[in-house]
Amino acid sequence: MKKKILGLLLAATMVLGLATGCGKAKDSGSTEAGNAGASSDGDVQVGIVLPTKDEPRWLQDQKQFETILGDAGFSNQVLFSQGSSATEKTNVETLISKGMKVLIICAQDGAAASAAVEEAKAAGVKVIAYDRLITGTDAVDYYVTFDSFAVGAAQGQYLIDNAPSGKDIPLYLFAGAATDNNAFIFFEGAWSVLQPKIADGTFKIANSSEAEALKDKAELSREEISKIIGQVTTDWDFNVAKSKAEANLTAVGADMKGDVVVLAPNDGTARSIADVFASDKDVKSYVVTGQDAEKASVQYVIDGKQSMTVFKDTRTLASDSVTMAVDILNDKTPATDSSYNNEKTDVPAKQTAIVVVTSDNVKSALIDSGYYEASDFTGIE
Ligand code: BGC
Repeated sequence: MKKKILGLLLAATMVLGLATGCGKAKDSGSTEAGNAGASSDGDVQVGIVLPTKDEPRWLQDQKQFETILGDAGFSNQVLFSQGSSATEKTNVETLISKGMKVLIICAQDGAAASAAVEEAKAAGVKVIAYDRLITGTDAVDYYVTFDSFAVGAAQGQYLIDNAPSGKDIPLYLFAGAATDNNAFIFFEGAWSVLQPKIADGTFKIANSSEAEALKDKAELSREEISKIIGQVTTDWDFNVAKSKAEANLTAVGADMKGDVVVLAPNDGTARSIADVFASDKDVKSYVVTGQDAEKASVQYVIDGKQSMTVFKDTRTLASDSVTMAVDILNDKTPATDSSYNNEKTDVPAKQTAIVVVTSDNVKSALIDSGYYEASDFTGIE
């Protein structure tokens, strides 16, 4: 990884011929442009817009961008949209007014963000969708993403591999926000492995009549997934996840408790859901998934309160985006390895692999790789 960053440094200096000392704009996370070092006279080359600083996941990305872009000598600014598409649009406009050449954006709402990126495109800015695809527009030049289908499939497979033996094991399904294209891909990935186990009676869906009605269908349309997500969405919100889990457990009979498995879409929601299942006296044991390797969830995994997480190395995603930005600025075609249809066009994409983390490999995956320090946790030697 160090090598990659060094390479970037060189590439950025050569390509952009940046004078050292040119304004390094670093926002420590305010929505109001936080312009430490940035002035309004056109000194932001790469603008980054992230969905919210209220979820630890996006603070990991912010840290990587500021490190990589700052070290490479790019002037840059990270702004957060705080869950609002309107703020997101204002953020993009702010960055356009500062002379941004490349926008790296993780949309709050994949469809609503099309207006903001179209404005950027009209201003001559190249747009890289980061982690979440922006739909219904041809204003997205590239997409940098983790393999989200693999995330969902890994979560589903983990439940299969770690479920108690027997038949009719209660399966609780939860999903991300319907405004996030990834929520559909995660669910699709999970369904691809879970569906045969639901159809053959190993699992019994506890909390979604829509999923139950579709249990014999191996591949679901977007509309069908939409119906299921409509019932099991967490909106990516810890509190929604908590109340939904509570309501689900209140609604079911004793036959849907005991030893259960739970598809939780990410770490924040997994911790909320796990806490609810842990405090129900009729739930004897639960297996629960997650993703993002947020510190709090890594501790939950070490403590046996969350069964797994999916590590998405934000160092790779951020540095891939910066490599792309350098190529774009140098009129070179960035390397891509796949494409995603965004309902308007096929967006060339660069995908990054994911790693399943359990208590068995937490040290090698997260500590030995230098992502976190052992001292961030208790219980790791
Ligand atoms: C990201 C996840 C994240 C979720 C909620 C998704 O688009 O891919 O990593 O947990 O949004 O913010």
